[in-house]
Amino acid sequence: MPVGLLGIEKLERAEIEAILDRAREFQTPKRLDSLRGKLVVNLFYEASTRTRTSFEIAAKRLGADSVSITASGSSVSKGESLVDTLNTLAAMRPSAIVMRHSASGAPHFLARHLDTPIINAGDGTHEHPTQALLDARTILDRRDSLEGLRVAIIGDIAHSRVARSNIYLLAKFGVDLVVCGPASLVPAELSRMAKGVTISYDIREAIRDADVIMMLRVQLERQHEAAFPAGEYFQFYGLRLEHLELAKPDVLVMHPGPINRGREISSEVADSQRSVILNQVENGVAVRMAVLERILAC
Ligand code: CP
Repeated sequence: MPVGLLGIEKLERAEIEAILDRAREFQTPKRLDSLRGKLVVNLFYEASTRTRTSFEIAAKRLGADSVSITASGSSVSKGESLVDTLNTLAAMRPSAIVMRHSASGAPHFLARHLDTPIINAGDGTHEHPTQALLDARTILDRRDSLEGLRVAIIGDIAHSRVARSNIYLLAKFGVDLVVCGPASLVPAELSRMAKGVTISYDIREAIRDADVIMMLRVQLERQHEAAFPAGEYFQFYGLRLEHLELAKPDVLVMHPGPINRGREISSEVADSQRSVILNQVENGVAVRMAVLERILAC
């Protein structure tokens, strides 16, 4: 089976470290030709700004050709199935397919049926591996090590592939993790997902002494019924300046984006000195270059 990147869960710690080290070398923008002659197809069944664009830029910076296809602009909108779409694209002989899909496990299904390496760019509520890698790169740009850090992940945990990939990654590096949100959005089994994970329903308790606060978007598109009254969400789980005083003085505030100002995070916090949200975006290109190179350079 071709080796792509389907998730963080099965990655060895050494492999993660190698990607993060290589990504650091790509942080200074440069054009290379190590992937000249390769073709990267980005197939996005869900909306994306950051992930799709940064995969395109990453492929181009490494000398590869890159094309992007969205569900609304392709024959998917005419009823073509996932398998038929993928077989059609595979017939054009891409070197790798980067795929985002609303169904958890869709990239794993395809990886079993195609000879092309598949890179998971977010599958349903399951995993978003390159997001966790770029988040780790962003923390390590400002801290010597992940080991022993206290990281609070706050928001709609139940529907968050970002939370799952980050929990898998950070737990492999000995991080003290607290996940927090309303009970309807924090599945109790998360505490058994990995070593070092605790649950809190109180944002102040979760943030106390945190080195890193990762805020998550409330994913209304994945909620079939309202899990928490919209008007009260910000009052109970929105991150405001007053909360930062409970955390370490040099706390990093992260968010995978897109952010909803005034719902899960205030503008004052999102635009504050403590926010590294745009640094995360910047690292998206470097990390995706490292991932593409690892999978395609041979
Ligand atoms: N963080 C993230 O996946 O953003 P996009 O949906 O814009 O790609």
